Amino acid sequence: MASRNKSLLVVIVHLLVVFTAIMIPACAQLTTDFYEKSCPQALGLIRSAVARAINRESRMGASLLRLHFHDCFVNGCDGSILLDDTDTFTGEKTAIPNLNSVRGFDVVDEIKSTLNEKCKGNVVSCADILAVASRDSVDLLGGTSYEVLLGRRDARTASFNDANTNLPTPFFSSSQLVSIFESHGLKLKDLVVLSGGHTLGLARCVNFRTRIYNETNIDSNFKASRQKICPATGGDDNTTALDGTTPAKFDTAYFKGLIGSKGLLHSDQELFKGDGGESDSLVQYYNNNPKKFYKDFGDSMIKMGNMNVLTGNDGEIRMNCRKVNN
Ligand code: HEM
Repeated sequence: MASRNKSLLVVIVHLLVVFTAIMIPACAQLTTDFYEKSCPQALGLIRSAVARAINRESRMGASLLRLHFHDCFVNGCDGSILLDDTDTFTGEKTAIPNLNSVRGFDVVDEIKSTLNEKCKGNVVSCADILAVASRDSVDLLGGTSYEVLLGRRDARTASFNDANTNLPTPFFSSSQLVSIFESHGLKLKDLVVLSGGHTLGLARCVNFRTRIYNETNIDSNFKASRQKICPATGGDDNTTALDGTTPAKFDTAYFKGLIGSKGLLHSDQELFKGDGGESDSLVQYYNNNPKKFYKDFGDSMIKMGNMNVLTGNDGEIRMNCRKVNN
């Protein structure tokens, strides 16, 4: 009996060792103090640059947050979205979800060159810049700060095809949204809370036209006012706030809008169908508990920010976020 227990113990210890070895490398080298020795000013410099950019244009916080999301969902948070096309690959910038839509590349360039200068070399990765700039945008626009794990390295390639297939579209149903988030290791709760990112920023008419002309689960005043901004034909690039009211304030207006059938995108309204399901309950919960929304948003951002990161000797730290090093 004693020897049976001993061998069981050996098996358990063995399994634990194997499990730890598998689990740890995913974010083994991501730490909150990654740049403390190599460039202690890095985080302060990023925050001031983000604050300046938001002062110049309040929408920029939203745009930086979306860049990080679109980076992470396409083969992990590796700065791949920032790469320009080359002779050997077509990058992600011209994929459908990104074309004429993602913005903020100039601000990232500005941050990167400031860091290269002040850190006296190429120290901070472009992928980390996106993670920190997103956090700072949320914080500066009224949300709550959270500690970003750092030490991501940058990809040496980008994929046009993966950007077309790995990102959700505004025409997705709730089950398509759930399954694309699950394929990235994110749960329904992450989907709902991260969609709360739509408390910031704008969307173009082309992405919400079918909702305001063809759908029935929509508030009639909201529908009429949005049809003035977005005609049945033409005006594809006309924009309006995703949360209906306060596009430069991180608040709970997005969830309130969903409850009032004022979701701008089809995919937004899919999260609140009025059927009393789990997704409805989460929307109601975050609408009623702003502090929980801010806290859970940070937690889910950390989770998203750790997806498939490159660490150690994988990838590189790009000198210029738009190009791989030679
Ligand atoms: C759940 C699935 C999602 C879909 C289908 C979706 C889709 C979209 C679309 C269509 C736009 C407008 C783009 C345009 O018209 O040019 C947009 C904007 C935006 N999205 Fe999402 N999104 C999703 C999730 C997220 C997440 C998880 C975040 C961040 C955590 C996010 C942050 C943003 C922000 C901040 C904007 C405004 C950007 C700006 O004004 O520059 N989205 N999204």
